[in-house]
Amino acid sequence: MSAMNTSDKTSVAVNTATDDRLSPLLFVEGLTVRYGDFHALKDVSLSLAPYGTHAVIGPNGAGKSTLFNAISGFVKPTAGRVVFSGTDVTAWRPDRLARSGLARSFQISAIFPDLSVEDNLRMALGRHADKASLMSSRRAIGLGEEAARLLSETGLDLRRKERAADLSYGQKRLLELVTTLLLDPRLLMLDEPMAGLAREDIPEVTSLIAKAAGRCSVLLVEHNLHVVERLAQEVTVLAGGCLLSRGTYGEVASDPRVREAYIGGSASD
Ligand SMILES: Nc1ncnc2c1ncn2[C@@H]1O[C@H](COP(=O)(O)OP(=O)(O)OP(=O)(O)O)[C@@H](O)[C@H]1O
Ligand SMILES: [Mg+2]
Repeated sequence: MSAMNTSDKTSVAVNTATDDRLSPLLFVEGLTVRYGDFHALKDVSLSLAPYGTHAVIGPNGAGKSTLFNAISGFVKPTAGRVVFSGTDVTAWRPDRLARSGLARSFQISAIFPDLSVEDNLRMALGRHADKASLMSSRRAIGLGEEAARLLSETGLDLRRKERAADLSYGQKRLLELVTTLLLDPRLLMLDEPMAGLAREDIPEVTSLIAKAAGRCSVLLVEHNLHVVERLAQEVTVLAGGCLLSRGTYGEVASDPRVREAYIGGSASD
């Protein structure tokens, strides 16, 4: 009897853990953005698990950035809803969403070019209201384990004392991602993180995103289909503002509608 109780308890615990993993972190339903009569996004739904990478692909003008803007509060949807971690956040402003764990990466302009790599991380850690406060106290403040780990994983520790402005474009992208990851997001939204990168910088940025996806959910817009294939467990294809196809990369890549609208055409694969 007591053995039975133990096993009952175990099975309840396992079920709870499984349910937590399965419940979506982000749930988007019927999202629509209209500019006058023009639908930039029409009735798009998707659901993201708490970990892993979901990629959104499609031709130029498909509505990918509009979807990002509508999820992250930069554009007010005309219809539909966004549920983040069980809460309806549809009317929330971007700063409130960011504080609740939805991080959107905003390209290299987010880093401070005249600060060193490690001072950029200190700023990201939010212990300083401004650069003057950072300068006056930085000797006393360590970076912490997480920042040190990310620096070492990206190879940026070798350049930690250098000005961010002196980094290569690819290293700036890595630094920007590292500062975003230091915010410990639950959802990381990346709109074309490989854009403008030299071919040799792509594997390192890809690998940092893969690591991030082990710790949070990543929503990725990317035209480089090798990167999408490597990173994404699920792919949503948009065209003309509408959902065209969804599945694994292999499934959508062999979908004739996708081949006609995108992969056979303008995609950089
Ligand atoms: N503020 C706006 N006013 C009017 N039309 C807009 C506005 N923002 C975007 N659009 C239009 O909505 C459509 C979708 O744009 P969006 O930027 O979402 O495309 P995308 O899929 O991100 O394309 P790309 O791959 O080129 O980045 C485009 O036709 C675009 O011109
Ligand atoms: Mg775009």
